[in-house]
This record gives sequence, structure tokens and C-alpha cells, in this order.
Amino acid sequence: MGAQQAVLAEVLNELVKYTVFHFGHEEGMMIQYAYPAYEKHKKEHDALVAKVQDYYDQVMAGKTSISLSLIGFLKDWLVNHIMGSDKEYRDFFAKKGVK
Ligand SMILES: [Fe+2]
Repeated sequence: MGAQQAVLAEVLNELVKYTVFHFGHEEGMMIQYAYPAYEKHKKEHDALVAKVQDYYDQVMAGKTSISLSLIGFLKDWLVNHIMGSDKEYRDFFAKKGVK
């Protein structure tokens, strides 16, 4: 594995770990407060984790031509999930007095 691949693998590995932790926290809160769109949100989380895991596997398998599609994926994630779906629950939690 080249130096660039090693860096990419490390970044993806950290991203998987962070994601599993962060999503787990979010999902725990949603269950605790009976968030109505929990199932839909959880599905998005599972799909994102599966995808980032898939990128990690590809890098580990020596495929380096994923950079552009990976950047596209991460942009989708940030724009669509965090700025979209995650925003939807902020008002819900705010009304419950959760910060
Ligand atoms: Fe989320």
C-alpha cells in the first residue's frame, strides 16, 4: 500500500469510527424521545456507514481511483444528511428541551 492509500485508509477508518459513535448517539436520543422519523433516519445512517465501509474496503483492496467519487459522496453526506435530515430533528429536540 502506498503512502497516499495509507493516509486515505486511516482517514476512512477514523470516519467509520466517528460515524458509528455519532450515529449511535443520535439514534439513542431519538429512541429515548420517541422521534417520529427514527426509522427513516436510521436507514440513512445505516446506508452511509455501509458506503464509507465499502470505500474503506476498496482502499484496502488497492483501488485508488475512488477519490473523486469519494469526495462526491462526502459532499452528499454533508449537504443532504447533516444539513437536511439532521436539521429536521433539531426543532423536535429543542421542543423537548434537549440541547
Ligand atoms: Fe443523523
